[in-house]
Amino acid sequence: MEIEKTLILVKPDGVQRGLIGEIISRYERKGLKIVGLKLLQMTRDTAEELYAIHKEQPFYDKLIEFMVDKPIVAIAIEGKNAIKITRLINGATDPLESAPGSIRGDYSTDITYNLVHASDCAENAKSELAILFSPEELYSPR
Ligand code: CMP
Repeated sequence: MEIEKTLILVKPDGVQRGLIGEIISRYERKGLKIVGLKLLQMTRDTAEELYAIHKEQPFYDKLIEFMVDKPIVAIAIEGKNAIKITRLINGATDPLESAPGSIRGDYSTDITYNLVHASDCAENAKSELAILFSPEELYSPR
């Protein structure tokens, strides 16, 4: 049993479509704990730091423009195997592979405007959480 923390973002499309509550409730119903939560509009610097690994990708510029355009909700989540489980709840990035029942499978047909982000490994979860949250903004459920 591995207790992990991870970073989730409700992306601008999720906020604009009024899906914040629907999205957050899926992690909560699974039994994961919210240990940090805020609405903010990312600066370009923050978005570029967060997505630095995609800098050479053809979709990078579009992704950054999308992410800084409107507010997002940043969520720090803690729980057993939280990294893998939140990614299963989100569904695959490719809309042709995101299963019905997942957030993307239920609400998105687009590979860029795909509602949510979740850290993909422990190392990235740690660095991504540090980009969006100061230590004082994170709480422990226990
Ligand atoms: P996310 O999980 O936030 O991680 C990187 C993001 O880049 C991804 O969600 C999508 O929003 C976007 N992305 C990934 N692959 C592609 C792609 N092939 N074309 C366009 N956007 C992509």
